[in-house]
Amino acid sequence: MKKILITGSLGQIGSELTLKLRKEYGINNIISTDIREINNEITKDGIFETLDVLDVDKIFEISKKYNVDTIIHLAALLSANGEKNPKNTWDINMGSVLNCLEVSRELNLKLFVPSSIAVFGNNTPKDNTPQNTIMRPNTMYGVTKVSGEMLCDYYFQKFGVDTRGLRFPGLISYMTLPGGGTTDYAVDIYYKAIEDKKYNCYIDENTYMDMMYMPDALNAIVNLMESPKDKLINRNAYNISSMSFSPKEIYLEIKKHIKDFEIFYDVDPIRQNIANSWPNSIDSSCAEKEWGFKFDYNLETMTLDMINRISKKLNKES
Ligand code: SER
Repeated sequence: MKKILITGSLGQIGSELTLKLRKEYGINNIISTDIREINNEITKDGIFETLDVLDVDKIFEISKKYNVDTIIHLAALLSANGEKNPKNTWDINMGSVLNCLEVSRELNLKLFVPSSIAVFGNNTPKDNTPQNTIMRPNTMYGVTKVSGEMLCDYYFQKFGVDTRGLRFPGLISYMTLPGGGTTDYAVDIYYKAIEDKKYNCYIDENTYMDMMYMPDALNAIVNLMESPKDKLINRNAYNISSMSFSPKEIYLEIKKHIKDFEIFYDVDPIRQNIANSWPNSIDSSCAEKEWGFKFDYNLETMTLDMINRISKKLNKES
């Protein structure tokens, strides 16, 4: 990767990925884009363009203008938000992937499209979920992610476009909040623990889902994109996970540091239903074998870092 276009740069993954790639690849080699334009370090300290990912001409224009060789396409609607307007979710998630594929085909670019644990559904094996298994999701978000994987496979096989992807679990980070996912509780809980010492959780205490700390997710993107093409068998897309826990387990881990922290449960049936349809834990061994996936953080080390970082951030803001 030499000149990288990122879509959704102001989102949860995009904001941290932009800063990391600017450091690693040079500030003038990262073209961050988003449909919004807010005043922050992403938009002010490096190259930033406003981009609606449904505008294929503008994707072409920006890619040519900066001589882009790689697109990292992060703009998408997540699982819980996606259920509010399923057709809109299909239009945005699929239209944008198709646009990025077309631009990549025409201009011979490498393309990263994230997938998700949401590709799995009620009839998928729940524990140690294999890389290749039943994928019959019951959210529109999941439907777009499976379809996106298939479309990327098709463009690779038919046109030789170098498409690559990861099935992300719930991502936990302190810089930018996630927007409308089912796993968002695992971010909210840290803020509420620090600010209010209590948290009202919308997921039942014993529901397990795969999770990952953001630094590990960003390393995974870079490592996958930089690995030799001929090593990648399951290129679209790899199961990756670094931990699996329930609300009760993350609560107990935070409570080790914030002794008077309390948790209550007020289960939201829509998001609980989605969580129930996803695996308890997925098997990342294909990613490990094919391109050396590894991770640094577990629940304990992530919790320590999250509490320190969020406390500092909130102190600065107040
Ligand atoms: N974190 C995402 C969601 O909850 C899963 O990919 O929608």
